[in-house]
Amino acid sequence: MCGIFGIVTSEERPLGPVLVEAGKRLSYRGYDSVGCATIRADGTVDLRKDVGKVDDVARRLQFHEMRGTRGIVQLRWATFGAPSRANAQPHIDSDGDLVGAHNGNVVNNVELREAFIAEGMTVRSTNDGETCVHAVERYVDRGHSMLDAIRRAYGDLEGDYSFVIGRVGENRLYAFKKGSGLVAGLTDGIAVVSSDLPSILPLTRRIVRVEDGEIVVLEPGRIELRRVEDGARVEREIETVAETMEEAQKEGYPHFMLKEIHEQPRRARELLHLYDASPHVATLAERMGRARNLYLVGCGTSYHACLLGATYIARLAGRPAIPVLAPQFVPQYVPALGPEDVGLFVSQSGETKDVLLALDAAVARGLVPLGLLNVIGSTLMYRSRAYLPLACGYEISVPATKTFLNQALAFLYLALRMGGHPTAELSRVPELLEETIAAADRQIVELVDGLAGRDDLYCLGYGLTYPIALEGALKMKEVTYAHCEGMLSTEFKHGPLSAVTEGYPVVFVCGPEDVARVVSGVNEVTCRGGRAIAVAEEDPRLRANAHDLIVLPEAGPLLNPLLAVVPLQLLAYRMSVARGIDPDFPRNLSKTLTVD
Ligand code: AGP
Repeated sequence: MCGIFGIVTSEERPLGPVLVEAGKRLSYRGYDSVGCATIRADGTVDLRKDVGKVDDVARRLQFHEMRGTRGIVQLRWATFGAPSRANAQPHIDSDGDLVGAHNGNVVNNVELREAFIAEGMTVRSTNDGETCVHAVERYVDRGHSMLDAIRRAYGDLEGDYSFVIGRVGENRLYAFKKGSGLVAGLTDGIAVVSSDLPSILPLTRRIVRVEDGEIVVLEPGRIELRRVEDGARVEREIETVAETMEEAQKEGYPHFMLKEIHEQPRRARELLHLYDASPHVATLAERMGRARNLYLVGCGTSYHACLLGATYIARLAGRPAIPVLAPQFVPQYVPALGPEDVGLFVSQSGETKDVLLALDAAVARGLVPLGLLNVIGSTLMYRSRAYLPLACGYEISVPATKTFLNQALAFLYLALRMGGHPTAELSRVPELLEETIAAADRQIVELVDGLAGRDDLYCLGYGLTYPIALEGALKMKEVTYAHCEGMLSTEFKHGPLSAVTEGYPVVFVCGPEDVARVVSGVNEVTCRGGRAIAVAEEDPRLRANAHDLIVLPEAGPLLNPLLAVVPLQLLAYRMSVARGIDPDFPRNLSKTLTVD
């Protein structure tokens, strides 16, 4: 996702090198475009931006020459609207005396943009960062001070974002946020602000964390917080942070995997905002709905999301979808494909060779390729006729966690839309995830002691939780090096039951509709001395029959799988750490598999 950084200095100086350095520190988030703006002491704005990597664009556009008393750098990670020079940030207002950049999504961008054009403003892009600038311009033009104009604009801009803006003639920058992160920093004669602490740390460790509903005003060597509501000053102590750069990127978590698990409620919220405002959801739902055969193609975790997607689509849209592992798609289905068929290719990285080979083979037979991907600018994005982003930001840890969650949520969203159902109920998901993380982590810490030494276990599910059991088992294998097999719970008695001896652990992931069926599987394990661990909503039958019950919030059968995966991620993580493994970089594995 995008990142922003802004700096205010007491006198004009070369700001290009500082901005490039800050941009590089934002780049771990993933991005497709970069831009810098400086405001010089003589009141001119120097704006340079383009599609490409920081080093490349900085060299081409000579960022090192840029001077000023204020500077902004932005890295854009396109969610909607092509990566282009016009859409790259920062942006200026109609007459070029305001310059600003944002990070995140403004969900009412389309409506606001149309209103600004109708009001006679000069709108140069389709990017929502530009909308933020015009939202302030609207009130400045009506005679409000910058602070008052920003307070009013804050109410107009909906979504999750942070935003920084400067005005010619004032040696200040202003920044504010809704949902997204924003931190300001202070040192001699300088004030800085950024979406990311790591971009500030080389300059200062004296920081102020900005909260929703606050505006930070940055002057040389001075930071002031104001309340959006009434403009009143907010007093907050300056903190001195001790984190290293890597720790700061981990936001205080010991590993990226744990950070990314905890990020899931926020990423789910961002995905829902994005899809609620996106015309591409309708495009995909319509194409998938009218396909002769609909294939959902992926590998590993992404394939598990496809399995869940097929179950959602059958149930909510009343049509079959065929989930298939990408390399098997070629021999099993490609010979029978035609132009009436549609394939949704699902990949976090968008670079998995198995997926791209399957896509190419299918396109050669006339199939329409659609994409569901996290990395904007990836090969899959360019090869898809239409795509939806997962809006997870950069996933650093090798085990996929937040990208699986948003793949599953994207499938549920699409299935609801394909079936003509409302999606409003999904707005409960972020909060339910927050509850799940808080409750499950406590229960799992207790469980790990007894499980960390086990080298062999099973993870079973049925119906909507079958893909979750497979995903839980994959997470466990990846980061604990233990053998953990995922399976349909009803299959266990057809052979694997022979593995059960005293204390043998079997995890049952159970949806609220499947308790009766699962309880008999639980008893088949416990009566042979095995240890049955259920992951489910509170239920007296499971409470009475299983050894352990990891309790999920009541959410109903459709939302239950989205929550059920979280305790399994946490269990895998905690077991990995207990076994002395680095879960972020498990041996032999790579985040992006561009090989056969
Ligand atoms: C998941 O934890 C794994 N890292 C792996 O199974 C992954 O999902 C698979 O390699 C596919 O990757 P993709 O989503 O980037 O295509």
